This record gives sequence, C-alpha cells and structure tokens, in this order.
Amino acid sequence: MSKIVIKGGSNLHGEVNISAAKNSVLPIIAASILSGDKCIIDNVPMLEDVFVISNILKSISADVTIDKKLNKIIIDTSNISYCDPCSELVKKMRASFLIMGPMISRFGGFKLCLPGGCNIGTRPIDLHLKGFAALGAKVNVEHGFVEAKAKKLIGNKIYLDFPSVGATENIMMAAVTAEGETIIENAAEEPEIKDLADFLNSMGANITGAGSRAIHIKGVKNLKGSSHSPICDRIESGTFMVAAAITKSKIRINGINEEYLKPIIAKLTEAGVYIRCEGNSLIVDGNRELNPIDIKTMPYPGFPTDMQSQVTGLLSTVKGTSIVTETIFENRFMHVMEMKRMGANIKIDGRSAVIEGVDKLTGAEVKATDLRAGAALILCGLAAEGKTEVIDIYHIDRGYVDIEKKLKLLGADIERVNE
Ligand code: EPZ
Repeated sequence: MSKIVIKGGSNLHGEVNISAAKNSVLPIIAASILSGDKCIIDNVPMLEDVFVISNILKSISADVTIDKKLNKIIIDTSNISYCDPCSELVKKMRASFLIMGPMISRFGGFKLCLPGGCNIGTRPIDLHLKGFAALGAKVNVEHGFVEAKAKKLIGNKIYLDFPSVGATENIMMAAVTAEGETIIENAAEEPEIKDLADFLNSMGANITGAGSRAIHIKGVKNLKGSSHSPICDRIESGTFMVAAAITKSKIRINGINEEYLKPIIAKLTEAGVYIRCEGNSLIVDGNRELNPIDIKTMPYPGFPTDMQSQVTGLLSTVKGTSIVTETIFENRFMHVMEMKRMGANIKIDGRSAVIEGVDKLTGAEVKATDLRAGAALILCGLAAEGKTEVIDIYHIDRGYVDIEKKLKLLGADIERVNE
C-alpha cells in the first residue's frame, strides 16, 4: 500500500500548472455516448476516475483510446450496445451514473446498478430520476438496479429541489434529443455545467442558459462527434492557493480562470492572503499574519464544498476562532479527526466545525478519508513540525494528477512511498 510522506516546514516557491477539471472531463466522456461517433477530448488529466469511466464505456462496447503522453482520449461510441455495464466498475465511482442520461437518450432506456454512496454522504439520485420521469421515462428501482424506459422522451419543465450538479448534467444529456423544449429550473450553475453544454452544443445540441439557474434545451434529431478541451480545475487551483497560505509562501499558479475562483479568492483574501491575478495566472502570497474567518459551503457561485477540508486545515493554523459550516454533504468532516491527530483544535457542532487556531501542527500518521480530505492532510503536513504520513492515498489519485510531484517542484519535502 503506498503512502505520501511529508517533512513539514519547507517554504514553497516557483510556479505550478493546473490540470483540466476532473468534474468536467467525467460528464464530457459520458456525453460522448450521445454522438454514436468519434469524439476527441484533449488536455485530459490522467486520473483514476477518468480510467474508471473509460473502462465503463469499454464494458458497453465503446472503443476508447487513452494517450497518456498527449493527455488525449479518443472515444468511438458507434458500436455501443444496450447491455449491462460492469457493475463492479459502476459501484467504484458516483459519477458513473452520468452515463444514464445519455444511454436513455440514445437507446430509449437503460439499466444500471445503483451507484455506491461514499464516505461524505448518502448521495441520493432522486433528482436524477425525477428528471428522467418528467421527460416521460418509466423509472423503476429494484434489486439494486435503476431501470428507465421511454419509447420517446418529451421535453418538459423540471424544477430541481436542490441545484444538484449531477442531476443537472444527467437531465441535460437526456433532454438533448427529446421532442420539444426542456427547461431545467433551479439548475446547478457550476462552471463544469457550462463546459458540458459547450461540448454538447459542439455536437449539434441546442442548449442555452447553461451556467445560470435556468437551462433551456431544444431537442434535436441527433448529435455527431466533436472534439473538446475541458476547463481548468478550480478545486486543484484552490488547493494550491491554500498550499501557499498554509506554508506562508509566495507561488505562481498558472492555467487558472479567475471567474471560477471568485468565492475562493474572496474568502482567502478575507483571511489576509495576498492574491493578485495576472491573466490566467495567480500570484498567491501567504507570508503574512492571517486572521480567522467564517465560511459556509454553498452551491456555486458560493464557496465550494470541495474546498472545505483544505480551508479547515488552513484555519486550524490561524490564531483565533473560525467557523466552517458544511451545507452540501452530511458527513464531510471526517478529516477533522485526522487533523486532530496533528494537534488541530477543532470541535464539530452539528454541521459546523469550530476551529481554534494553534501555533503549530505536529506530524502524524493520518488517513485520507476522501479525495479532498486527503489533499487537505497533505497541506497540513506541509505546515506541520516533523513527519506526516498520509495513507489510503488512492482517494487522492482519483482527483489530483501527481500532487506530490507538483508540490516537490515547488520546494516541498514530499515523497510517494510504494510499499
Ligand atoms: C458533484 O457531485 C461533484 N462530482 C462533487 O465533487 C461535488 O462535491 C458536488 O458536485 C457538489 O459540488 C462530480 O462532478 C463528479 P450534487 P454530485 O448532486 O453531482 C444532494 C469531488 O471531490 N442530491 O450537486 O454528486 C446530495 O445529497 C466531488 O470532486 C440529492 O439530494 O453532487 C448532496 O447533498 C465530491 N438528490 C447535494 O445534493 C440527488 O438526486 C449535492 O450533490 C442528487 C443530489
């Protein structure tokens, strides 16, 4: 089992390049099913989750070529069949459920095993299913499988009780060839939604309003193959911003989009971090006295839940009392127990973490409990006194390309140890 070992105390310097967004690439790969043709995705981050969804497409007879040197994926879905995908693969990753909408749209139905929950919450799919039903699909959940059937999908107005990212994406993909117009109201506004819509429109879809609370989809007869280069990863960008802040360093982060980072820039600036944008780069300087702040995670454009564990780690080293409230997932404070092993002083009160900043964290053996918690523990290790060992790093590899190599290039004393 491999682990990441960090010797804390080094300052960071230099610059880091941000990869494309995992949470954009995954729905875009799923959307290639709609083309029944060849799609080329460039600038693909070579992540575990990307390999999983690619293997799921292969299990339903798509032809997928991954070029790790060119960071390119070529997907030919002309031979995809209506067959059961490999359940073991589907259960590995929540985002696997994103193939449901495209398969219903293309084949008039599909059967898929229920995606697993995960550590951070139950992660229901009721809003996805409500959307499919509103488009005329007959939806049935039994024996651990979801089956949706529809002779023809008919456009409809769908109001999402919660602006769910996955439900917005799945319903949008199901609606692209539905008869008539579909309006998704209270839709998720995350940048990855617009990126997916841009890809679908390049395939011949007719989507307007993606990135706003109301998305209009006018059904078209069919879609064709296309190529796309996904947007940058705003969460990886934010993770490196916190790396600079927690180590009191000044670094340059390249390949960012300032618009996507507004909520993160706002809160880190409020904490006293110096941040300057230069085109598609950020200069981040954490070498100053920071102050405690309160943060509440919200759907975009609010502060992202995927940055919650990273800022919780940062605030545990900032003198004073900070309060972090997690409103999106019901169990996303598992990193707190691990941070307490490093000397953090954090109390969970309902959906909030009350953080009393300490002078110094101390290195310890800690466990990554989910993708972002693992990244947060690495950041805490960078600032801690002594050695930190992070185990269960397979979580981290799902969403960060070579995180330890990128931090090492910035001057961190960090190694991946394969045992
Ligand atoms: C996406 O997950 C991201 N994953 C998550 O990133 C991210 O944390 C999340 O959006 C929120 O921003 C991908 O894009 C692959 P949701 P998703 O549906 O789509 C409730 C990471 O670390 N809900 O917006 O599953 C749900 O319980 C991952 O990169 C329903 O109630 O998130 C949760 O409380 C973690 N019914 C809230 O909505 C539904 O049918 C947010 O879920 C669907 C969701």
